[in-house]
Amino acid sequence: MTKVRLLDAEDWGLYRAVRLESLADSPEAFCSTLAREEAFAPDVWQGRLAARNTFLAETGDGPGGIVTVLAAEDGTGELVGMWVAPAARGRGVGDLLVRAALDWTAERGLTELRLWVVEGNRHAERLYARHGFARTGVTQPGRPGAGQVQMAHVPAPA
Ligand SMILES: CC(C)(COP(=O)(O)OP(=O)(O)OC[C@H]1O[C@@H](n2cnc3c(N)ncnc32)[C@H](O)[C@@H]1OP(=O)(O)O)[C@@H](O)C(=O)NCCC(=O)NCCS
Repeated sequence: MTKVRLLDAEDWGLYRAVRLESLADSPEAFCSTLAREEAFAPDVWQGRLAARNTFLAETGDGPGGIVTVLAAEDGTGELVGMWVAPAARGRGVGDLLVRAALDWTAERGLTELRLWVVEGNRHAERLYARHGFARTGVTQPGRPGAGQVQMAHVPAPA
């Protein structure tokens, strides 16, 4: 059974390993690079875990995926760094991580949860759409040759 848990600063070595694996596996999906983050000192990883909320999915076979959510100053949340390990794909791990991010957003009373997805990343966009995210119409440049589209999840009125 897959469990999702919030990482704390003591988990920085595990976080580093999974994050670097995601950058090595799916460089096209992220704005950062393996070379940049491999050079981070321990305090950078610890600082990230302290300042953001990172959820790790643990399957019976080890780490299965990761996602980070952070609160912006305008009262919205942002979802970043979503990655599911290749061996765990297509088994609902992405759903568990998106659910954890949405629950965290709701618990904090944030008005909406936003994210960026590389244009053409159909698996990711379908995953987010399944949870109620929709394109906002806002775009931004990403890696050369690959723009990013913004999606947002706005909670239904109570
Ligand atoms: C996008 C991603 C997070 C989806 O995670 P997931 O837990 O596999 O999500 P799902 O279970 O919804 O499966 C996604 C799709 O992969 C398909 N799939 C099934 N088995 C699979 C496998 N063994 N390997 C790859 N994809 C598989 C699923 O059928 C599904 O297809 P659909 O989009 O047509 O419905 C994951 O593919 C991933 O980490 N990709 C690389 C990084 C990335 O793109 N991150 C998103 C940044 S915005």
